[in-house]
Amino acid sequence: MTAVLAGLGTCLPPRVVGNRELSQRLDTSDDWIQARTGIHERRIADTGTTTVGMATSAADAALSDSGMADVDALVLATSTPDQLCPGSAPQVAAGLGLSGIPALDVNAACTGFLYALATAGGMLAAELAERVLVIGADTFSRLCDPDDRTTAPIFGDGAGAVVLRAGTAAEPGALGPFDLHADGTRANLLVVPAGGSKQRFSDNSHDYFLHMQGREVFRHACAKMAESVLAVLRVARLPLAGVDRLVGHQANLRILQTLAARLGLDEKHLVTNIGHVGNTSAASIPLALADAVDGGHLRPGHHVVLTAFGAGLTWGSSVLTWPPVRGNMQGHRIPEDSYEPVVR
Ligand code: UT7
Repeated sequence: MTAVLAGLGTCLPPRVVGNRELSQRLDTSDDWIQARTGIHERRIADTGTTTVGMATSAADAALSDSGMADVDALVLATSTPDQLCPGSAPQVAAGLGLSGIPALDVNAACTGFLYALATAGGMLAAELAERVLVIGADTFSRLCDPDDRTTAPIFGDGAGAVVLRAGTAAEPGALGPFDLHADGTRANLLVVPAGGSKQRFSDNSHDYFLHMQGREVFRHACAKMAESVLAVLRVARLPLAGVDRLVGHQANLRILQTLAARLGLDEKHLVTNIGHVGNTSAASIPLALADAVDGGHLRPGHHVVLTAFGAGLTWGSSVLTWPPVRGNMQGHRIPEDSYEPVVR
């Protein structure tokens, strides 16, 4: 059995925070943020809006897009769960009226959605389930120090979900192969030092926020995603010239442009929506897919490569042929100009 993508849904919190608003309280500027990241604005969850809430809403939208009433299992990719314990996936299942199905969190940071897709694919292959919801949801604004100009402008909040069903490898929407990796020797490059078992409490409140060595992460992201895309294409026997759309984790527009250049891929094949949503971590890939479908930039029959890189470090890629799935964005549409590659 192979996992086949059968529905797509998203949820973005309504509050839009633009670069100018941020630069009123941080030592930064609209020009710096746009030039160095490609981000114009991001969505920020208000108090009361949580990862579970956004994940449930995106999953509900994906279910209605798929035409299915329910699923047999749920996998939630997140590194910002509502609580450290328990995992958030059971609460999402409960919110959907699906208490009782197996539901688990996968924490692979910005690569989480790809790891969750692979996990769900394994459940389908092992015949543990016939339909699985896979959700990527993160509320990184809660982990960013609002006074830290090196992280606060980068991250945004949101959720995206897909419904996978058991099918065959020859069908449009069939997922795989996958190429997944991790390197814990570089965990310190992107880390929240306190709050876990290593450093439960800290006198320094900054330890509870995300610390990122941006330049190093940037370097590894470009190198590892390029390697991974080439590896997955080799296994899939898909030549680079056959790739219609590259849907990369939206961490920085310059990373995506560097990746395209390294691969020798024309930028017109890049899917980018970072300008309007920022880095939404595990939600990044499904949000980018939904925006691209909605804008007509991703169409049935397109050969799509998914690739991501994040804390851990973790990275990976997968491929699929886009199926006739329209996506349900619940009215959170963004301007179509975000599909135009920015060339500097
Ligand atoms: O999603 C998980 C994976 N995450 C990523 O992939 C993020 C990867 N990293 C990045 O996207 C980039 O490294 C950043 C956007 C985070 C930073 O951009 P950069 O071009 O690498 O900047 P930098 O860290 O090398 O800093 C250049 C300068 C520094 O000043 P000096 O030392 O040259 O005087 C920074 O202090 O820019 C300064 N700077 C800022 N200036 C204005 C850093 N952040 C800001 C800011 N506004 N927000």
